Amino acid sequence: MAQGRKFPPISGKIPGFMHGADYNPDQWLHDPKIFEEDIRLMKLANCNVMSVGIFAWAALEPEEGRFEFGWLDHVLDTFAANGIYAWLATPSGARPAWMSQQYPEVLRVGANRVRNLHGARHNHCYTSPVYREKTAIMNAKLAERYGSHPAVVGWHVSNEYGGECHCDYCQEAFRDWLKAKYGSLDALNRAWWTAFWSHTYTDWAQVESPAPHGESAVHGHNLDWRRFVTAQTIDFYLHEIAPLKRVRPELPCTANFMDLFYDLDYREFAKVVDVISWDAYPTWHAAKSDADVAAWFSFNHDLFRSLKRKPFMLMESTPSLTNWQPVSKLKRPGMHRLSSLQAVAHGSDTVQYFQWRKSRGSSEKFHGAVVDHAGHEHTRVFRDVADLGAALAGLGEVIGTSVPAEAAILFDWDNRWAVNDAQGPRNSGIRYEQTVVQHYRALWELGVPTDVIGSDDELAGYKLLIVPMAYLMRQETGEKIKRFARAGGTVAATYWSGVVDEHDLCHLGGFPGPLRAAAGIWAEEIEGLHDHDRNTLVLREGNPLGIVGSYEIRELCELIHAETAEVLAEYGEDFYAGRPALTVNRLDAGRAYYLAARVSDPAFYAAFYEALVREAGVRRAIETALPPGVTAQLRSDGVSDYVFLLNFSGKSAEIELDGASYLDAETGDAVAGTLGLPVNASRILKRAAK
Ligand code: GLA
Ligand code: ZN
Repeated sequence: MAQGRKFPPISGKIPGFMHGADYNPDQWLHDPKIFEEDIRLMKLANCNVMSVGIFAWAALEPEEGRFEFGWLDHVLDTFAANGIYAWLATPSGARPAWMSQQYPEVLRVGANRVRNLHGARHNHCYTSPVYREKTAIMNAKLAERYGSHPAVVGWHVSNEYGGECHCDYCQEAFRDWLKAKYGSLDALNRAWWTAFWSHTYTDWAQVESPAPHGESAVHGHNLDWRRFVTAQTIDFYLHEIAPLKRVRPELPCTANFMDLFYDLDYREFAKVVDVISWDAYPTWHAAKSDADVAAWFSFNHDLFRSLKRKPFMLMESTPSLTNWQPVSKLKRPGMHRLSSLQAVAHGSDTVQYFQWRKSRGSSEKFHGAVVDHAGHEHTRVFRDVADLGAALAGLGEVIGTSVPAEAAILFDWDNRWAVNDAQGPRNSGIRYEQTVVQHYRALWELGVPTDVIGSDDELAGYKLLIVPMAYLMRQETGEKIKRFARAGGTVAATYWSGVVDEHDLCHLGGFPGPLRAAAGIWAEEIEGLHDHDRNTLVLREGNPLGIVGSYEIRELCELIHAETAEVLAEYGEDFYAGRPALTVNRLDAGRAYYLAARVSDPAFYAAFYEALVREAGVRRAIETALPPGVTAQLRSDGVSDYVFLLNFSGKSAEIELDGASYLDAETGDAVAGTLGLPVNASRILKRAAK
């Protein structure tokens, strides 16, 4: 999306930022004073929204068919009277013991075909007719009772959908899904290349989900199982929202996502939710500089925004620490604001936490919360939260603004699954996700607004497209990328791209298959390097990028031939010294770069992308040098630009502002010249849209 624009707020009831937390009043029903105190504290903390009842099934339906809504009526009515809103949850993320006891089919079956016992959460079969019936009844009752409640702004559907089930119902559903996809067993056998090891199916009943003690070696099968798990999870979600939408179709529904979650294709899931929300838990302060962690989470924020190319919700984050990471570190002064504004900088219109009040017992009793066991507001964490709430309240004009990205990076879930399942060329670490973020990181350091897109997304409007390790590439994707370059776009693709098609069958006739024409190269071989192996990428003198010197290579080297491409750099060592390592192919108005090896030195990516951004004229948030670990991000409505300066470097930093005239978006004061950014500082500057 190249131009700034303004979206309406997520809920018409809250024109500004949503600020609040997961709230579990059902844990405190025995002590009504706690709820009264919570209302007082929510207002003091400048919170205006709570996610309510996420794990409240046992309180809502204590026995089969006996519903208790009195407590929730009281919570929501009191909210409404106090200007607090609710994302009302459907409680399917955990179910009451009576249900598992009465209907064991609601419990999940593992890949080893063993049914789980009751316990934990997220432990349900998403195909089970009983579980579907129970959720339909519960959700219909919630919708009828609360769909028009003045406090309710939307539905928080279940919690962090994930996992898979291998029960008989799910096997049947998998076969049905395959029948619909392939039509015939012949087509399935061809797509899965089952002649290999004599795995040809002759009866649909022979087809089952992958299993550690059964079939696990057929790549196309594994890939389709993952696609099915996504489809079946979405089907369950659609089943959950049907009764909600029947009552009030306009009330938004969301399902909270998780960072780079592997098991579900969120790009598919995104199509059926009204607003994207996600749960971010960075492990701050694990190193001197937080830049690595910050870049990873910025990538996630950009991904979640790009799923719908509009503002998203930070549904969960911790107000202080988590209790599930190896070490529970406290947020240093400034980090709560910095981390929260990071989400906003990338397009979040909410800052929400897990959790409002610490539980007294069980596995999350030491997880950070706005209200600690001490039970009052006189804590550092509470003050951090209240201060942020006050700051957000003053930033209402940012709501609905977009991130006008002219750079995009390709990231597909089925590619992710396929490249990790590939068996070669480096089973000791193919590192797809890290590679994508390695490239993204260079744009982050330059302060380049970036979308994270999928193969089906439109490329129009972008100037730079990064295609790292696009191992699974459909023919039409390759053609689309070529059209993009022809029309003037710049493409930066890497090794191990264009290797298999959508069935995980190798492209015949030369890699990178569908990308070969655009890249103008042929990749003859690829080798995995041992951890101790090194090579170098040596820039050719006088190359048009103007980069000089040599950079270390590790892990993967592809041996390519330049066909129509020009060689910019070559390998420095080994029997392939002197052969191309970096090329550029010129196509009509645009160009396609191809990086054949995994360069390990970040300085290479910094220099390479600096050159590409300059050459392609890609918009940066601010036209100035940014110190390492300090990023600038941009939101815009096309009239005003909001530049977020975020210091994750662990050191104090200075930024020389460019020639535009800036105001501090919070104070309204004019800002010019050199701006000091102390450790963990975050500033928002406003200027006329460029
Ligand atoms: C997840 C869950 C929450 C809580 C937090 C703890 O995001 O959705 O219920 O368990 O983790 O960090
Ligand atoms: Zn099942």
